[in-house]
Amino acid sequence: MADVLILNGPNLNMLGLREPEIYGRDTLADIEALCRGRARALGFAIDFRQSNHEGELVTWIQQARGQVRGLIINAAAYTHTSVAIHDALRLLDGVPIIEVHLSDPKTREPFRHVSYVEPLAAKVIAGQGANGYVLALEHLSGLLSGKDRVRL
Ligand code: DQA
Repeated sequence: MADVLILNGPNLNMLGLREPEIYGRDTLADIEALCRGRARALGFAIDFRQSNHEGELVTWIQQARGQVRGLIINAAAYTHTSVAIHDALRLLDGVPIIEVHLSDPKTREPFRHVSYVEPLAAKVIAGQGANGYVLALEHLSGLLSGKDRVRL
């Protein structure tokens, strides 16, 4: 497995076509390329995935246990509904989790104001568009290099 697993939830495979006034014009492939470029510069190997299925996301999180140094997740609509994803994230035992959203859900419809990911997140990055993923990688890099210093 990679150093950092980047998970994307339902409908994010439709980025570029999907409500560009809210989510921007970048496709998920564009965002993946952006992440790969930044991760390379930061010295991370990344695994970048998307699923429309809650159970598949849960399985991938379970498989990441003990295998990754950090997790970045845009759980999309499951952010606001999924106790199953919340419970899976709890299995990661201290691995830093960064929650990312392209838009800022807290300023949108009330049903988007709750996040089941947020209580477990070291940081939430919302409303920064595709650049939010880059900021998440940079934040993770800071957290992980801080950890290395403590270990030394
Ligand atoms: C989203 C925000 C969610 O509310 C929405 O369901 C998404 C995308 C975002 O990236 O802004 O699918 O996670």
